[in-house]
Amino acid sequence: MRIILLGPPGAGKGTQAKKIADEYKICHISTGEILRKAVQDNTPLGKKAGEYLDKGLLVPDEIVEGIVESRLKMQDCAAGFLLDGYPRTVRQAESLAEFLKDEGIHLDVVINIQVEESQLIERFTGRRTCEKCGATFHIKFNPPREPGICDNCGEKLIVRKDDELETVKRRLEVYKTTTAPLIDYYSNLKLLTNVDGSKNIDEVFQDIKKQLEGVKS
Ligand code: AP5
Repeated sequence: MRIILLGPPGAGKGTQAKKIADEYKICHISTGEILRKAVQDNTPLGKKAGEYLDKGLLVPDEIVEGIVESRLKMQDCAAGFLLDGYPRTVRQAESLAEFLKDEGIHLDVVINIQVEESQLIERFTGRRTCEKCGATFHIKFNPPREPGICDNCGEKLIVRKDDELETVKRRLEVYKTTTAPLIDYYSNLKLLTNVDGSKNIDEVFQDIKKQLEGVKS
């Protein structure tokens, strides 16, 4: 199965992506996680990407396109993949289409998680993330067993730097102007399916599974 997850920042893409990847045994590629890890490790990529992430701006297309293409060529993606946070511009979508065509791979479905902006802000302010393994929690909607500690690896949970209110507002603006056009782009290709992301995490996952039942791969 080859899936793209679309949706505004905070819609629950990362949360659902981990559940989908576990359920269908496909590789989960989160460009946001890859970039945050590079920043944390202070790699050459991290040095280039850091200032964009901190400001809530998109990293230049050519940088992320290269990251995703090399990741997709890895063996663990042969059985299927889920792209979370990519593509985010029409140019990225076109570049992905070209890459997949050259590789003889087709996309199965693009799932668009829909959530109202007022709900998104509450999700950002309560989000806690594990710096080590990338797991995501919410102090109210998805609390860790022990406050401030990751259920998966026992590390400390942090507030993401780009979850500060001003940065969040900029990310939402960037989403509206630059990423939302992908809804029409994939709708025109008859690949888009919408999911109501305002329900609780398990209900959203059940809805996604229902949509995926109809997908042949
Ligand atoms: P990225 O990490 O992709 O951030 P994002 O798209 O802004 O998405 P988020 O991670 O903020 O939210 P999410 O939808 O994954 O929600 P989550 O599951 O965490 O990108 C970060 C940055 O990297 C970008 O700003 C950019 O600079 C750069 N970047 C990344 N990709 C790029 C690209 N392709 N091109 C250029 N630059 C790129 O959920 C949010 C919270 O809500 C959590 O606390 C969660 O527990 C909770 N929650 C989830 N679902 C529910 C629910 N149903 N009910 C209640 N609470 C819920």
